[in-house]
Amino acid sequence: MCGIVGYIGGRDCADVLMDGLEKLEYRGYDSAGIAVFEKNIIRTVKTRGKLKCMADKLAAEGKPEGFCGIGHTRWATHGEPSDINSHPHSNGRVTIVHNGIIENYAELKEFLTEKGYSFVSQTDSEIVACLLDFYYDEREPLRAIMETVKELRGSYALGILFKDFPDRVYATRKGSPLIVGLGESEYFIASDIPAFLKYTKNYALLDDDEIVAIDNGGVRFFDVHGIEVKKRVQTADWDIEQAQKCGYPHYMLKEIHEQPEVVKKTLDSLVRDGVPDFSGIGLTDDFLRGVKRVFVVACGTAMYAGMVGRYAVEKLARVPVAVEIASEFRYMDPIVGEDDLVILVSQSGETADTIASLELAKSRGAKTLAVVNVKYSAIARGADMCIHTLAGPEIAVASTKAYMVQITALYALAFRFAYARGKIPADEMKRLTAQLYNAPKAIRDVIDNKDECQFIASQLVNVETLFFIGRGFDYALSLEGSLKLKEITYIHSEAYAAGELKHGTISLIERGIPVITVATQRDVLAKTVSNMEEVKARGATIIAVCRKGTEFAEGTVDIKLGLNIGDEPSVGCEPSIGCELDDMLIPLPTVCALQLIAYYTSVLRGIDPDKPRNLAKSVTTE
Ligand code: M6R
Repeated sequence: MCGIVGYIGGRDCADVLMDGLEKLEYRGYDSAGIAVFEKNIIRTVKTRGKLKCMADKLAAEGKPEGFCGIGHTRWATHGEPSDINSHPHSNGRVTIVHNGIIENYAELKEFLTEKGYSFVSQTDSEIVACLLDFYYDEREPLRAIMETVKELRGSYALGILFKDFPDRVYATRKGSPLIVGLGESEYFIASDIPAFLKYTKNYALLDDDEIVAIDNGGVRFFDVHGIEVKKRVQTADWDIEQAQKCGYPHYMLKEIHEQPEVVKKTLDSLVRDGVPDFSGIGLTDDFLRGVKRVFVVACGTAMYAGMVGRYAVEKLARVPVAVEIASEFRYMDPIVGEDDLVILVSQSGETADTIASLELAKSRGAKTLAVVNVKYSAIARGADMCIHTLAGPEIAVASTKAYMVQITALYALAFRFAYARGKIPADEMKRLTAQLYNAPKAIRDVIDNKDECQFIASQLVNVETLFFIGRGFDYALSLEGSLKLKEITYIHSEAYAAGELKHGTISLIERGIPVITVATQRDVLAKTVSNMEEVKARGATIIAVCRKGTEFAEGTVDIKLGLNIGDEPSVGCEPSIGCELDDMLIPLPTVCALQLIAYYTSVLRGIDPDKPRNLAKSVTTE
């Protein structure tokens, strides 16, 4: 995945592009570049490395002076990160930036080579510049774009400059996001809204195959046949502060701190008269009563959020739920049909495998429900129904607040599901909802006591390998805690269902290997403690994450992280007693502790947690 931007207006274009790229750097950060019309001639500056390297290069070489241009921040797919492979790419009369993958680039390259074109990079993107040039013989940019996109297979969002048309930007897309920002006499294109949020909140969405032409006179949209179309102007409900660090050293830490607030905001949007109500999106009690099976399909952290949702829905509503990895689901010929509900969970709403799973589920007649944070995304727009989570922009590559609101929404759904199917009475739905409203306070408490997580991080900073174990909800949390840790610390980490370790993996346990045991679920606590003891007996260092009041036999636990979420059995407890949470809801504060442990370990290891190596925020390729 990459980020693209474009600008035309009265400001210094290079500054606006760099500013926008900084907001999109989460999409890729192995190289960057800009191309600007400088006195009617396109000047390109690009380099390998993070945006900081680009800023240094601009400072050393002098930035291009002008008011119209395009920019790119790259996550390499074809060709290693290098100056040559960085975007923009030019050939002849055309300069482009590209986000996506051109699947038939090899055959197009052969065709273009026969036509006399030569290539300097190893990218699939350079082919697009050549093909545009090939179709540009009549010097009609719109026609050249229309002819070119007919030949492209795969996904793309393209920002395009034609050298004969200074101060004009063209753009088109298919499968990859592209948004047109509409300011006062200034216009933007971008992969995501934060890139221009500082200048305008108004935007229009480009649909697949549409083309936009922007010059000082304004913006014109065209369909695939070149017919001009009108677009609806929308207004972003995000603030610029949400897309900035606001004094925090990293986006990840800021986003962890935002969690109490975004959980409450998401809940407020889903709850009416004290209970979850999804009738506004068509998810009525009648519909929920008729569902035979549920599939939750997602990738990475979103999939682990789906596991929490599975435990909650099955426990309360007694409907079978399968959690599927999207990249598997799309190719496994799943047995899914019209009585099934397929829930697609995604922060970005643009994850390629999740989009393909959505299409597959729809083609089999299943009803689809998106749980998505970016409301203008492909998944949000493509699903039959959409729960829009309100985390706001999540910039750090490691997902934190998006996971938190995903599980919040899935809990709310579980409560309504259970009520609709007659498994719990209205009073219990109300009580559970009130309990969920206790979560922000419990999460805040974990954040306020973050020094305990910092201490655990200090014990992990030099380890080479570690394990997470847990049962039920704690197993789902272990998977997420382990992913978060390895993603941003590069420490090898594996998560296991606590009872599974002794079926092979326990042979890896030796003296001093940390085993983070998530032990919040009282119904399985005794069993988890036995598993803890098994690894302790083989020399492991045990770090227990549990309720504050949980007691362990002397010598079992080396470090205890006790969460302040009430020690009394939840049965019959009043929601008004502060942080008290039902066991089922403990994942909300617990995951916050695991996120903080990962964050501080990353920082102590000298890694930038916002931009871990090899990763990009959204995975728009298979
Ligand atoms: O945008 P999505 O939620 O669909 O992304 C899914 C995963 O790629 C994502 O959650 C990934 O695992 C995170 N970087 C983990 O922190």
